[in-house]
Amino acid sequence: MKLFIIGGGGREHAIAKKLLADEKVEQVFCAPGNPGMKQDGIITVAIAENEHEKLIDFAKKENVTWTFVGPEAPLQRGIVDDFQKAGLLIFGPNQKAAQIESSKDFAKQIMVNNQIPTAAYKTFSDYQKAAAYVEEKGAPIVIKADGLAAGKGVVVAETIEEALTALADMLEGNRFGESGAKVVVEEFLAGEEFSLLAFVKNEEVYPMVIAQDHKRAYDGDKGPNTGGMGAYSPVPQISDEMVTKAVKEILEPAAYGMVKNGTPFTGILYAGLIATKDGAKVIEFNARFGDPETQVVLPRLKSSLADIITALLEGTKPVVTWHDQAAFGVVVAAQGYPGDYQKGMVLPQTTTEKTELYYAGTAKKAENLVAAGGRIFLVAAQASDLKTARDEVYAALAQMDLPQMFYRKDIGARAFK
Ligand code: AMP
Ligand code: GLY
Repeated sequence: MKLFIIGGGGREHAIAKKLLADEKVEQVFCAPGNPGMKQDGIITVAIAENEHEKLIDFAKKENVTWTFVGPEAPLQRGIVDDFQKAGLLIFGPNQKAAQIESSKDFAKQIMVNNQIPTAAYKTFSDYQKAAAYVEEKGAPIVIKADGLAAGKGVVVAETIEEALTALADMLEGNRFGESGAKVVVEEFLAGEEFSLLAFVKNEEVYPMVIAQDHKRAYDGDKGPNTGGMGAYSPVPQISDEMVTKAVKEILEPAAYGMVKNGTPFTGILYAGLIATKDGAKVIEFNARFGDPETQVVLPRLKSSLADIITALLEGTKPVVTWHDQAAFGVVVAAQGYPGDYQKGMVLPQTTTEKTELYYAGTAKKAENLVAAGGRIFLVAAQASDLKTARDEVYAALAQMDLPQMFYRKDIGARAFK
C-alpha cells in the first residue's frame, strides 16, 4: 500500500509512523509534512493542505491506495468532497459532516436533537442580547466564537466583566473574521476533562482508549489556552463505567444523529468531555484526531491502523484492539506561544532509547532542524505504567538543550494525586 496523509504536525507524524509500522504499507507520503518527520522514513510532499487540485493530482500520479486527512481546516474546506468527486478514496468527513467541529451552533443542535449531555447554551449575534444573558446567568461562564479558531476562540470567564469583554471582542471587534459574527454563551462545567475518540462510519462507532490533554500553556493549568501542551493515556481517574456510558450516550447518538440529520459522518470523531458529578458532558466535538492526544493514543493501538481505515472505506468490520501499556507525551513549544513566538532555534534530532520524537513546527536550515512553529515537537514514551512513562519523558527532556523553548513540568499531575 501507498498511503497519503494531509497535514504537517505532530499528529500527522504519529499517524504516518503508525501506518508505516505495518508491513503491508510500502510508502507514506505527507503533504506538506515537516522536515522532522523524514527521520522516520515518511516522504514529505511540498503541497499546501489547501491546494486541493495539486493534492488530487499527486494522489493520482502516485496511485495512492487512499488518503487520510489530519487537520480540521481542509475538512471544513471540503477536501473529502473534492477527492471523492475525482474518484479517489479518502478517509474523513465531508464538508457538511465536518460542521460538527466547524460550527459550534451546528454541533449544539445535533446534541440537543439527540439528548446528548452538554452544557446549557444560547447562540447570539447581537451584543446587547448576549450581554443581558451573561448578566442573568452570572460567572463563571464560557464564551465561544462560532467557527474554527484554532483553540483560541474560547474564553472561560471568571467574572461578568471578563465575559462582557470577550463578547465585545468577538461580536463587535470581529476578531475571528466572519466566524466572530456569532457566539455561543455556555454554562461553565466543573470537572476533569478527557478526550474520547472513535473511528466512525455512519452509525458504526469503534471507540479508542481515552486520553487527557493539557490545554493551558503553563504549569498548574495557568496561562492562555493552546492547542494542547501534553497528553497521556490511560486516564485512571476516569472510570471505565463513565467511558462506557459516554460511548453509549454521546458517541453513538452523535453518529446516529448525524445520519438522521442527513449529514452522515465518516472519519475520526473526537468528543472533548468533562466528567461532571452528573456524568460526562460534551464541551466540543472535533471531526479529526486530536493533537497531542494522537501521539499517546495511536501507540496503544494493537491492531493495524491501515487495516482499520481500509475496512471502514470498504464497508467491512474493522478489528480494533488495544495494548494495556501506558503512553505519555510532553510538547516542547517556542517561547511566547500561543502568542508571537521565537523561531529558528536549533532542535534535537535524537532522544533516549526509551523515548520517541514527534515533530510539528520544524524547518530545515543547512544541516540543522530548526524551530518554525509554536508547538515544535513532542517527546513520548510507552511503559507498563504511567509513572514510568512520565519519568522517561522528563529524563529525556532534561538532557536536551532547548534555548528559547519551554514545556510543562506537570503533565499527568492529576493522574498521580
Ligand atoms: P474548546 O475549544 O471548546 O475545547 O474549549 C477550550 C477549553 O476551554 C476546553 O478545553 C476547556 O478547558 C474549556 N472549556 C470549554 N467549554 C467549557 C465549559 N462549558 N465549561 C468549562 N470549561 C470549558
Ligand atoms: N488537543 C486538542 C485538539 O486537538 O483539539
